[in-house]
Formats: sequence, structure tokens, C-alpha cells
Amino acid sequence: MPINAALRDYLKTRRSVGIGFLKDPGPTPEELQEILTIGTRVPDHGKFVPWRLILIEGDDRLRAGEKLAAIAKRKRPDLDEAGMEIERRQFLPAPLTIGVLLSPKPNPKSPEIEQLLSAGNVCFNLSHAAFALGFAASWTNRWYGFDVDAQTMLGARGGERFVGFVHIGTPTAVIEDRDRPNLDDVVSRWRS
Ligand SMILES: Cc1cc2nc3c(=O)[nH]c(=O)nc-3n(C[C@H](O)[C@H](O)[C@H](O)COP(=O)(O)O)c2cc1C
Repeated sequence: MPINAALRDYLKTRRSVGIGFLKDPGPTPEELQEILTIGTRVPDHGKFVPWRLILIEGDDRLRAGEKLAAIAKRKRPDLDEAGMEIERRQFLPAPLTIGVLLSPKPNPKSPEIEQLLSAGNVCFNLSHAAFALGFAASWTNRWYGFDVDAQTMLGARGGERFVGFVHIGTPTAVIEDRDRPNLDDVVSRWRS
């Protein structure tokens, strides 16, 4: 195959842009379809499609935030107004958040860890798709990705759990790169 210089350059320099630095405009409906199409084109041993996606955008971002704040308050009655406001704004200002659920399909051909990895690939592929269309993105999994009540409120069904939330929007800042691992620390050669 010929060298794909644009893809190589992207992969060598890509980095996340946090949700606080993502603003409108978000993807159009057509762009969103493309992001979802690319995002779900991932390795999937056994073709079990062990994931589902939940879209949170527009006014639903605030409604979901209100419900998160209510759940947080129920679990932490000492949560003050500032803390409640942080919860209400969990899906702001990014115009679009895509929650990715591991939706396991128990089968000896593909143990759950493989299905989990496939779901993780959906998260990262959604991020790549966002950048490919000129947006920026970040992948988070905050407390609401682990709390059963919050997960249910956000759309998880029995047996499912969130593996990540991919926030997508137009970047408001150029984010400095972070330190990357030294290859010598993480790569070694197998020896007999
Ligand atoms: C599974 C997973 C969960 C994460 N959860 C959070 C989170 O809750 N809050 C946060 O600020 N960043 C979260 N991050 C993002 C990382 O902290 C960090 O921003 C990211 O790894 C940046 O790397 P990159 O620039 O190479 O994309 C998460 C990343 C992954 C892969």
C-alpha cells in the first residue's frame, strides 16, 4: 500500500482536547452519521457487536446534568451548591458526548476482555473520526461511568456498563502535548 502521509502525521501528533476546551459548532447530522460509521468500524472477534452508543447533545446535556446532580446529592448529602453545579455541567460545553457501553454477549469464542477491548476501540475510533472531520475530542470515564444508578439513568441496560464518554466539538485552544513514554522503558525484545 502507498504511504498515507496525512494519516501518519495525524497519528504521530494527535492528542486529546479536554471537554472544557470544546465548543459549538458540533457535528451536523450528516457529520455525526459519518463519525458513528467510522467509530463503529472496529475489530470485533466473533462479530458479536458487544457495544452500544448513547448520544447526549443539545438541551439533553443539561437535563442529563440535572439528573446526575440529583443522583450525586442523594449519594453525598453534603454536596454543596458549587459541587451540584459541577455535576449539572458534566456534559458542557462540548456540543456532543457519545457514551460507549460495553454490551457483552457471553460466548466462549470471545471472552469478555476481548469484547471490552472492542468497546474501547470504539471510543478511540470515535475520537479519530472527530479529528478526521475537523473537530477535536476527548475520552473520559468519570464517576457516572461507574455508578450503577448514573449508568442506568444515562441509558445502560442490564449487564451493560459504560467504558467511556467521547466528548466532541470545535477546539477553543491548542493544547500542549504531554510527555510520552520512552520506548526503551516499555519495549523489549523476547529472548529465549
Ligand atoms: C479509559 C479512560 C478514561 C479516562 N477518564 C478521564 C476522566 O475521567 N477525566 C479526565 O479528565 N480524563 C480522562 N481520560 C483522559 C486522560 O486523562 C488523558 O486526558 C488522555 O489520556 C490524554 O491523552 P492523549 O492526549 O494522548 O489523547 C481518560 C482516558 C481513558 C483512556
